[in-house]
Amino acid sequence: MALRELPGIALITGAGSGIGRDSAFAFAAAGVRGILLTDINLSTAEQTLAECRKHATNPSFRAVALKCDVRQPEQVDQMITRCVAEFGRIDYGVHCAGIGRQTLSVMTEASTAASLQEYDLLYSVNVKGTLLVLGALCKQMATQESRIVTGRNGPRNVGRGSIVCLSSGNGYVAEPNKGAYTTMKHAIMAIMKTAALENAALGIRVNALCPAWTETPMHQRDTVLLPMTAPMIEKYTPLGRTAMPEEVGDTIVFLCSDSASYITGTGLMIDGGVSLSLHVG
Ligand SMILES: NC(=O)c1ccc[n+]([C@@H]2O[C@H](COP(=O)([O-])OP(=O)(O)OC[C@H]3O[C@@H](n4cnc5c(N)ncnc54)[C@H](O)[C@@H]3O)[C@@H](O)[C@H]2O)c1
Repeated sequence: MALRELPGIALITGAGSGIGRDSAFAFAAAGVRGILLTDINLSTAEQTLAECRKHATNPSFRAVALKCDVRQPEQVDQMITRCVAEFGRIDYGVHCAGIGRQTLSVMTEASTAASLQEYDLLYSVNVKGTLLVLGALCKQMATQESRIVTGRNGPRNVGRGSIVCLSSGNGYVAEPNKGAYTTMKHAIMAIMKTAALENAALGIRVNALCPAWTETPMHQRDTVLLPMTAPMIEKYTPLGRTAMPEEVGDTIVFLCSDSASYITGTGLMIDGGVSLSLHVG
């Protein structure tokens, strides 16, 4: 068996759109036995479910869609309980639910009602949601048996489970008119690192992905808010384009796979090289 094949069970938040949706297809194609697809918008999670079946390679593949608002602790706990009831365990926990910037406000407007509202909203979904989902996943994974795989150099313990959450290039760098989002994405890195450190001895890996611009509905909304985004990406990104969702989804699958069994606490940039240089002309 190739180490990249994933035979276990995945749980995905934000599975109704964009990166979460594509990572569901990537997990189905990688051979998982089951996926719990969750989103605040149940109908979009159900659409992902229907399409997932077309990508599945495991003959026993089964998926279930569930409504879950990641801001609500009871709903997050119910999501974990449902996944374990349906499939017995959670091997790969993927937290994609999130929201993007709502306005083009700047720091000097921080005390205005609209700006504070944006900070509160982004905090509740992006930060509190990440804390709740990662906490609940780690708690469940800690109760599971570790797995041993045999690689080219003999057997090794690949642990009890792997978690990937979505930060952003804004988890490393700042950007004008994006203060609230940047703040939340830095906070997600702190939650990820804490979870990785506190759960390493239990054999639970926790990592973040830090994509730059990825072709999803969130990115489309952002380009409406700031039309100069598209020409800017083309000009300043060394690879000259945005990422396709599968370039992020496939990396999520890699980080969850046994091939990545020594990677934990990392914020992995997927940015077409945009963070390589200070050269902007
Ligand atoms: N698209 C990009 O350019 C980009 C770049 C860097 C990071 N990211 C991050 O990747 C993640 C996914 O973004 P995307 O581009 O796929 O966005 P998207 O808007 O296409 O999908 C986000 C999903 O999250 C769901 N969601 C929103 N609030 C929720 C809540 N409270 N509870 C549960 N589900 C909720 C939405 O319904 C939607 O299905 C986000 O954290 C985003 O910040 C995206």
